[in-house]
Formats: sequence, structure tokens, C-alpha cells
Amino acid sequence: MDKLRIEGGRPLRGEVAVSGAKNAALPILCAGLLCAGPLALGNVPQLHDVATTLKLLRRLGATVERDGERVLLDAAGVGSVEAPYELVRTMRASILVLGPLLARFGEARVSLPGGCAIGQRPVDQHIKGLQAMGAQISIEHGYVVAKASRLAGARIVTDMVTVTGTENLMMAATLADGETVIENAAREPEVVDLAAALVAMGARIEGAGTDRIAVRGVGRLHGAEHRVMADRIEAGTFLCAVAAAGGEITLTGAQPATMDATLDKLREAGATIEAAGDHIRLSMKRRPRAVNVRTAPYPAFATDMQAQLMALDCIAEGTGVVTETIFENRFMHVLELQRLGADIVIEGSTAVVRGMPKLSGAAVMATDLRASAGLVIAGLVAEGQTVIDRIYHLDRGYERMEAKLGQLGARVERVTGSP
Ligand code: UD1
Repeated sequence: MDKLRIEGGRPLRGEVAVSGAKNAALPILCAGLLCAGPLALGNVPQLHDVATTLKLLRRLGATVERDGERVLLDAAGVGSVEAPYELVRTMRASILVLGPLLARFGEARVSLPGGCAIGQRPVDQHIKGLQAMGAQISIEHGYVVAKASRLAGARIVTDMVTVTGTENLMMAATLADGETVIENAAREPEVVDLAAALVAMGARIEGAGTDRIAVRGVGRLHGAEHRVMADRIEAGTFLCAVAAAGGEITLTGAQPATMDATLDKLREAGATIEAAGDHIRLSMKRRPRAVNVRTAPYPAFATDMQAQLMALDCIAEGTGVVTETIFENRFMHVLELQRLGADIVIEGSTAVVRGMPKLSGAAVMATDLRASAGLVIAGLVAEGQTVIDRIYHLDRGYERMEAKLGQLGARVERVTGSP
């Protein structure tokens, strides 16, 4: 299992190009199942989760050609409607094939994703919404088995804001008979990007980016071209790393307009930030000030940035209060941060982080994707050597992270090894 070895305690300086967004690429790839024409995508990040999605699409019968950040997907030959357990269990987002398969083929069998490290993460809202559109759904042998001769437009009010739930229902609705309205829809920029790709494929969607999305079903969709949006979480992670370690960074290929909550928090922590076009420049000349964050659906502070901001609070001046409202078990990085000398007390869904003047390197274990990013930031700040084990979590969602950190002058090395 690969590890990351970091020699911390140095400021970071340089330029990094932001990759395409994982959380936009995954649903857009699954949207390719909705039509028989080719979908040509640009800016698709080279990540483990994308590879898993491509594998799943091939398994269903789609042809996929990949050339760097370009992917050409053709779902004309799809002959299977089953997403098997061995693929779904490694990536929860596989549930995103449910809506498209059901809408186009009238049936789907998708393995239930099951539990995951950061909490229960059920898919009841996906199922409830599809049932409202007339689908017959049962759970059989661990699979969601869905059938519908043709989905019918419906008014759906989700119990909570769910990103992939909104995406699944929006995709299913594109081929339904009549209008579907999704109330309490997720407003995440990735939902907007998916909607843009679907519209390019001939879908009729209004309101993406608001909490009310209206989709008028059409008879069929066609092939299209789309460029995947920039990854706001990857961008935020690099900014946070420089804000914590000190120094200066220029991000290129970013979409700062999707990053307000993160940029505001980093400014509050004392960073100077300028954003123009697709560039973001951050400089940090002081020890960060502790900031309080509360995660919530977009446009509020993203749960996917929580661990990174907490790492910054660990070495900040003052005490930061971090409240997680989206996932019930997303503080697993706390125990690992404590191994580096952080002073954190958890009380329910709140972590109180008392900033320390310094952290000291140690061996730590990555527990999930964004927790790993928090540990990398802490490792970059800590004095001495930090070795992060199980970085396959990191590889799921960050493209060439150690190379990009190297461009900033960080001493980061991948150690390839056996378990
Ligand atoms: C997506 C993102 C993930 C991010 C999360 C929250 C992708 C591929 N992943 O995950 O990176 O951390 O949004 O911004 O885009 N819930 C239910 N029932 C459901 C669906 C969700 O109870 O049917 C609950 C979840 O357990 C969680 C909350 O709703 O507590 C939000 O989850 P959701 O927005 O669905 O997360 P994902 O779409 O899985």
C-alpha cells in the first residue's frame, strides 16, 4: 500500500493548475448512459474514482476511449443494466447509474452502496424520487432493482439536500414523460455543470443552481461535447495548504466564483487573496488566525473542505470551532491530527481546536478522501517527517497531488510498498 512521506515545516511557493472536478466528472460520465450518441468530455481528471466509473460504464457495455483529460464515451452498445457489488462497493457514486439506466432502458439493478467510513449515507431519497416518477423499486439480494416502462414527471420534495440524489433524479427526469420538479434540490456547482452537459445533450432543464429544478422530459437525448468544471475542492485544498504553511500560490484553471465560502474563511484566517478570471492568488505572511466553520450545503462551507480547514486551525492563533452538519462520522482525522500534536476536543458534531504554535511529524493513517487531505496539510506544517499510510484514499480524488505539491517546493514523496 502506498504511503506519502512529507518533510514539513517549509513555506510553499509556486503555481498549480487545477484539475477538472471529480464530483462533476462522475455524474456527467454516468449521464452518457442516457443516449446512444457519443459524449466527448474534456478536463476529466485522472483519478481512481474516474477509472472506477469508466470500468463500470464498460461493464455495462459502453465504449470508452481515454486520451489524457479527454474521454469519448459511447453508450450505444449498452447491453447490461446491472452495476455489480464489486464495483459499487469501492465507490458510492456508482449509484449515479441508477437514474440514467432506468430512464433509458426501463430497468436497472444497482448494488446498494452500503455503509462507508464517513457515516451511513443511505440512498432512500434517490429511491423515493424515482418511485414518485412511477418506478417499481425493490431491494433484492443487496441490489436496488428498479423497473418502469417509462418514467412519468412528478413533483419531488427531498427530505434533505442531497447532491447525488438531486443528480440522479435530474438525469432520470430528462427522459420522463412530462415535467418533473425537484424541490429542496442541491445547489452545488457540480449539479449546475451536470445540467449544462445534459442541456448540451438535448435535455430541457431550468433552475439548476437553485433549490427548485424543473425538467421537461424529451423523447431522446443525443451526443454532445462538454468541458468539466474546475475542482473547487482540490483548489481549496491547495489554498488551505499554503495558508497553513505560509508562502504564496497562484492557481490556474480555477473557478473562484464557486469558492466563496472557502475564500472568505481563508481571508478571515489572514490570507491575502486575489481572484481574476480563472486565476486565484493567495499569499500568507503570518501565522493563521483560528476560524470557526460550520459545514452546510452549497453555498455554505463544504463538508469536503472541513478536514483541511481543521488542519489549518490546528496551528492557528486562537481557538476554532468546527461543526459538521452533513455527515455524522466525519471527524476521523481528529485522532490522527492529535498524533501530530494537535489539541482538539470533540463534542458531538463539534470539534474545538485550540491552535498550537507547532505540530510535530509522526506516522498517521488516512481514513477517507478529504481526511487524507487534512493530514497532508498538517504534515506540510509539522516539523520533521510525517508518513501518511493508506493514501489510496487520496488517489481517489486528487490528481498527482504529490507532484503538484512538489511544484510548490514541498518535500513530498510517494513510497510504494507492500501492505
Ligand atoms: C456528495 C459528494 C461528496 C460530498 C457530499 C456532500 C459526489 C460524488 N459526492 O456526496 O463529495 O461530501 O455530496 O456535499 O458528488 N442522505 C440521505 N439519504 C439519501 C441521500 C443522502 O439520508 O438518499 C444524507 C446523507 O447521509 C448525508 C446528507 O444526506 O448525511 C448529504 O448527502 P449527499 O449530498 O447525498 O452526499 P453524496 O451525494 O453522497
